[in-house]
Amino acid sequence: MAQIQNQGFDSSMPQEKWMGDVVLYQFHGFWFSPLLLQGTQELLNQFKPLSGDVILASFPKTGTTWLKSLLYSIINRSSIDQLAGNHPHELVPQLELQVYGPRAVSAPPHLPSPCSTSPSNRIFGTHLPYQIFGKNAISSDCRIVYVARNPKDTLVSYWHMVNTMEMAKRDPWSLEEAVDKFCEGFFPYGPYYEHVLGYQKESIGRPKKFFFVTYEELMSETKTQVKKLAEFLGCPFDNEEQVEEVVRSCSIETLRNHEVNKSSDMSKFIPMPLNSFFRKGQVGDHKNYLTKDMIERIDRITSDKFHGLIFKH
Ligand code: A3P
Repeated sequence: MAQIQNQGFDSSMPQEKWMGDVVLYQFHGFWFSPLLLQGTQELLNQFKPLSGDVILASFPKTGTTWLKSLLYSIINRSSIDQLAGNHPHELVPQLELQVYGPRAVSAPPHLPSPCSTSPSNRIFGTHLPYQIFGKNAISSDCRIVYVARNPKDTLVSYWHMVNTMEMAKRDPWSLEEAVDKFCEGFFPYGPYYEHVLGYQKESIGRPKKFFFVTYEELMSETKTQVKKLAEFLGCPFDNEEQVEEVVRSCSIETLRNHEVNKSSDMSKFIPMPLNSFFRKGQVGDHKNYLTKDMIERIDRITSDKFHGLIFKH
């Protein structure tokens, strides 16, 4: 794996206008806002996973919030009620934003400190691609869970999310522009396809280190996948009731009804309204938004990049 340089943010880096006034900078083949780049640099320099750590990796809008809830409840089964009072992104902090970087906050008391040196089941999230994060990830026996989602639903979910942000209030982001940027790979943490492939390739033949799952698999066979996830984490369920409790506690219907997740206030840990993480939670929602031409364009790229694996279209 190539050495990732400890360079700081540098205005001579390749840059590309993304949406509105937001400019993305290219770092080792992937696109970042300056804000994310700062936390990423700190993380790469400082984060040494412990052997008991669980890292949830994902491209944004692929089911991160759902997986954070599931991981937290499987690992901390006796304190599953914490989900009622804490946003999933508070229970499982995002490394490059909440542990390192400008939004870093001290961990709530029920979370082990990220500076702890004693092995424990700490859980962190990251949107960093494996091509950048891999060197840190392989430095210990930590486990990596990756969730992937169909590119068209990911894009539509992302487009909705951006339009809830302050910067889109005056000048909403058009779907045409979002599709163009997605297809060209100019997305924060993108290109999407390379992000998915980075983890998918690494996961092959390493079932103890990686758990690679799709949002669609989780939707269609939730209990089966949740049981597999618990086994992977080394915390298998004793009975069906436990599985059902975890599935129910982490369903979008349950989560979106907790006061903490209902608020349209900006979250202090991620620059988004707290309720923006729970929209529809459906497979195939892109059909309500994308035109036939947009779908064909994305499908061509998907088949070219994934060769019928992961997602056929
Ligand atoms: P939609 O916008 O398609 O509804 P992320 O957590 O990575 O930001 O992904 C957000 C997407 O996951 C949103 O998709 C959101 O509605 C969906 N989601 C959030 N919580 C979920 C849950 N518990 N179960 C299923 N989907 C969920």
